[in-house]
Amino acid sequence: MTTPAAVIVDAAGYAQAVEDAVKASAAYYTGGTSVLDDDSYDRLVRGIAAWEADHPDQVLPESPSGKVAGGAVEGDVPHTVAMLSLDNVFSAEEFTAWTVSLARRTGHEVTRFSVEPKLDGLAIAARYVDGRLTRLITRGDGTAGEDVSHAIGTIEGLPAELTEPVTVEVRGEVLMTTAQFEHANEVRTAHDGQPFANPRGASAGTLRAKERAYTVPMTFFGYGLLPLAGTEAGLAKRLGELAHSELMDRTAELGVNTTATTPVPGITADTVEEVLTRVQEIGALRAGLPFGIDGIVIKADLAADQRAAGSGSRAPRWAIAYKLPAVEKITRLLEVEWNVGRTGIIAPRAVLEPVEIDGATITYATLHNPGDITRRDLRLGDHVMVHRAGDVIPRVEAPVAHLRTGDEQPIVFPEVCPRCGSGIDTSELRWRCEQGRNCHLVAALSYAAGRDQLDIEGLGHTRVVQLVEAGLVADLADLFALTRDQLLGLERMGETSTDNLLAAIVTAKGQPLSRVLCALGVRGTGRSMSRRIARYFATMDNIRAADAESMQRVEGIGTEKAPSIVAELVELAPLIDKLAAAGVNMTEPGATPPAPVTDEAGAEGVEVPDAADGPLAGMTVVVTGAMTGPLEKLSRNQMNELIERAGGRSSSSVSKKTTLVVAGDNAGSKRAKAETLGIRLATPDEFAILIADHLD
Ligand code: IVH
Repeated sequence: MTTPAAVIVDAAGYAQAVEDAVKASAAYYTGGTSVLDDDSYDRLVRGIAAWEADHPDQVLPESPSGKVAGGAVEGDVPHTVAMLSLDNVFSAEEFTAWTVSLARRTGHEVTRFSVEPKLDGLAIAARYVDGRLTRLITRGDGTAGEDVSHAIGTIEGLPAELTEPVTVEVRGEVLMTTAQFEHANEVRTAHDGQPFANPRGASAGTLRAKERAYTVPMTFFGYGLLPLAGTEAGLAKRLGELAHSELMDRTAELGVNTTATTPVPGITADTVEEVLTRVQEIGALRAGLPFGIDGIVIKADLAADQRAAGSGSRAPRWAIAYKLPAVEKITRLLEVEWNVGRTGIIAPRAVLEPVEIDGATITYATLHNPGDITRRDLRLGDHVMVHRAGDVIPRVEAPVAHLRTGDEQPIVFPEVCPRCGSGIDTSELRWRCEQGRNCHLVAALSYAAGRDQLDIEGLGHTRVVQLVEAGLVADLADLFALTRDQLLGLERMGETSTDNLLAAIVTAKGQPLSRVLCALGVRGTGRSMSRRIARYFATMDNIRAADAESMQRVEGIGTEKAPSIVAELVELAPLIDKLAAAGVNMTEPGATPPAPVTDEAGAEGVEVPDAADGPLAGMTVVVTGAMTGPLEKLSRNQMNELIERAGGRSSSSVSKKTTLVVAGDNAGSKRAKAETLGIRLATPDEFAILIADHLD
């Protein structure tokens, strides 16, 4: 799972490696951006360790091996108890081996662990005297840290006053959430500062900065609670006896933020298997978290086990970091492409020097919109920090500004639509071709004909190109006016394919409203939102009659989305009329229209319909793994449609709100999570019986 150690061949190479590592580590802990990403740094340190193992008599005193923070930083405020680092494991096997060595030290198998995310920020100690926050200290070299009390008041989750007047030290991680990081860079570039490359560097820099004209917020998560010199004796004794999980509960009671408030709260586990399941779960949730994590920390939960295991000079022996693969790498921004999507949106995309992140080679990354490029102060030729987690499209986080040579070039924004040469509507964040969805008709039609929309078999991309180039279709509704002769006139179109395509087009007219709506490609609505809108309003007429306020009654549509959907529907009105005239279905089977209501002021609205009925009424269902039996042929979208037809709510992630998980073959972390949370599981066959009446 890990990349190999850097290869060091001689003493000179070793000395250089030590120098590079110390420099990178200093930048990492003191707020600079390192020229090395985490992965490259880890490889260097492992290379150094390997060389030192072979040449124990030549180890340099400044070597980072065996030191907290790689020996790069120091401080002048002594810690009462050393602030240690953690040893790492990279696989289930290494973790299991660690539990064996732990059992050797404690004299028995450990059967209570705490498992929590490894937050990717900086360790700090927050001293509270009589309940008041008096001092903030960085980890430093572990025995003494730097006083960063000037940051008091800028860290969310670390209150100025505790809920009880106690004298304690809270330890934990300071970080920036993704939103805080974006904000910090915005403020920083507005003050002519260089942007930070990633949230971690941004928190390190921000925490140490003393005289800035601006402050930017950060977030704290506590992971330790200990007595101080002035702590009342009874409390000090109790703190020493509590399990880690109990200390975390106390920390939260005192008003300090902990991981309990996140989608990945710390939990306790009794067996190695349970720990590994939780590691999987946290790994699976990582991409969607609002902050960065770089692993999972597993601790012997009980104070007695911790005491028995003891600590080394660098790391405790009762805790271990299970590292997750790196999600960030530094590479170069070579070019910016401007692509027009099916709705006419002109989206910038970064072309990168290929870089491997977690097993995939990344050559493109999303840049969101032009404003984003300006805000990030990106330039062509920049070294950039690229972030990729899970299956999410990689994104450029920020430039690594101190690696600039001066040869970087500004990114040129298009003045006309790069596809059709029309003007560009720049009034919104995302730029759009003035031709709207007509600009990229082929993309719009291919999407509409797709399996999850109108499902017109035989109408793939190439066929759509043919139809558009032959001038036979200028919008979606024209498809329904195609004649046999017109189709026969196309190249490679025989009688059979023509008849099949015509039949498929006729069938498409009968698709439910949800799919017709989805085929229209209303911006801000995908498959599941289209289904929700269609089920709520039941007919296209009702949808079109809805104003922004009634649109917001649909689950998941907020104040921002509602007016834009309403405006899009106005823009689409001529097309919708044309589709209706062509005989395309405009109703949602099984849905009851909301009754019109008039409030006291006489304004019209719609009433929330009664909760749906059906075998899944009131249930939230998640489907995972491969379906078998009668459900085998159904796509995930079709499964979700089925769930909703049967009165349920479909969801893609398992949470406490989930009522049923349909787990097919090779179901992975979602099934495991359902088991941990005690959620009802069903096989595809069992589920098919449950919803038999709704299978068509
Ligand atoms: S426990 C003595 N718990 O990871 C125990 N550390 O690589 C040491 N970290 O210095 C810390 N999340 O800055 C602990 N849930 C967590 C953590 C965590 C992040 C950081 C911490 C530590 C570093 C070691």
